Amino acid sequence: MINKMTVFSPKAVASNNYNLEGPELTIVVPTFNEADNVIPLYEKLADALHDIRWEVVFVDDNSPDGTSSCVKALAQRNVHARCLRRIGRRGLSSACIEGFLSSSSPYLAVIDGDLQHDERLLPKMLEALRSDEALDIVVGSRYISGGGIGKWQQSRALMSRLATRLSQMILHVDLSDPMSGFFMFRSRILDKEADKLSGIGFKILLDLFASAPEPLKFLEIPYEFRTRQHGESKMDCQVMWNYLLLLGDKAVGHYVPIRFLSFSLVGSIGVFVDISCFELMTAAIKLNFLTARIVAVFVAMTSNFLINNLFTYRDCRLKGWKALRGWLSFCLSCFVGALSNAGVSSYLYDKGLAPLLAVCCGIVVGAILNYTVTSQYTWKTR
Ligand code: GDD
Ligand code: MN
Repeated sequence: MINKMTVFSPKAVASNNYNLEGPELTIVVPTFNEADNVIPLYEKLADALHDIRWEVVFVDDNSPDGTSSCVKALAQRNVHARCLRRIGRRGLSSACIEGFLSSSSPYLAVIDGDLQHDERLLPKMLEALRSDEALDIVVGSRYISGGGIGKWQQSRALMSRLATRLSQMILHVDLSDPMSGFFMFRSRILDKEADKLSGIGFKILLDLFASAPEPLKFLEIPYEFRTRQHGESKMDCQVMWNYLLLLGDKAVGHYVPIRFLSFSLVGSIGVFVDISCFELMTAAIKLNFLTARIVAVFVAMTSNFLINNLFTYRDCRLKGWKALRGWLSFCLSCFVGALSNAGVSSYLYDKGLAPLLAVCCGIVVGAILNYTVTSQYTWKTR
């Protein structure tokens, strides 16, 4: 019997032999608009895991369809279920990471909330990990014998193949299905790499493999990808963009933050927008030079803000009034960036640097300043 007044140190708790009653396996389910799938998935998990100490954590990004209310209603009736509701956040990978970190189980798994993964493989995955101490992770694969992609359209199948090849080439991850979102691993691997994970986009498995300080020992088991019964896939061009960001982050993120690269890419698009708009204003509408410059600069700043808000900062995208305030602070920061760009380049030019080199240095300083200020004050990332 535990006395409520007793204060336990972590060491004392670890060395005490209480009955093992906590879950051995935590299954993390990222959800966005999966209300109709919550109960069917829970029932399938309960069937598959009846002789295992398990829990399921639904990590929901405040879905408008009320997924989190469904999970909470379920959790009131069942000790195996928990809900982690995130506000103002989006992202499959970051949702999984938060789910993992909320668990104390020695084994962690991820499964989609839309019943497309075969939950009957979970006991097999657990058994493999229990019986081989050296094994770090068991991955459900669609691309080994016995597995399959189900009823995907040809275009989606081709995209998946291409994305798989790309990650195998860039990250040297030796998995048949690095895009899989269905796997189980020892929580100890998180202890070593939680702070190295990028948490960008959809591909949490790739993130885990590419962030591991030492190669992970893995086992692949085949599964057939099922067809979605309720709700819609969240796969869209932003998800694809995030995939490229993740690859970039894993490849060069140690040197340059990937957001900065994305921000700079958007900045260079802005130069084209500026020039095209200026041409249009002077040639077609016959505005005078200064007015045309002012209009073109504002159009370019606005398009840069919108593209960054859509892609670079998708996970903390500003909406409504916050977007308006963000746009104002972005424009202000662009002015400060432009001033420092001009100041630095003319200072270096005065000091005898070649004009082109002086201009390039000005651009780099302006871009870094603009990025730093807007990531802190416009999108408020930490
Ligand atoms: N919390 C949270 N936040 N969950 C999300 C988000 C998000 O922004 N986006 C998607 N999810 C959840 C969905 O609700 C679903 O439970 C799961 O993540 C997978 O999303 P789907 O939209 O169904 O993805 P898919 O079927 O296109 O892609 C699946 O197949 C890929 C294999 O190519 C996913 O399993 C991927 O993980 C997998 O890599
Ligand atoms: Mn799906």
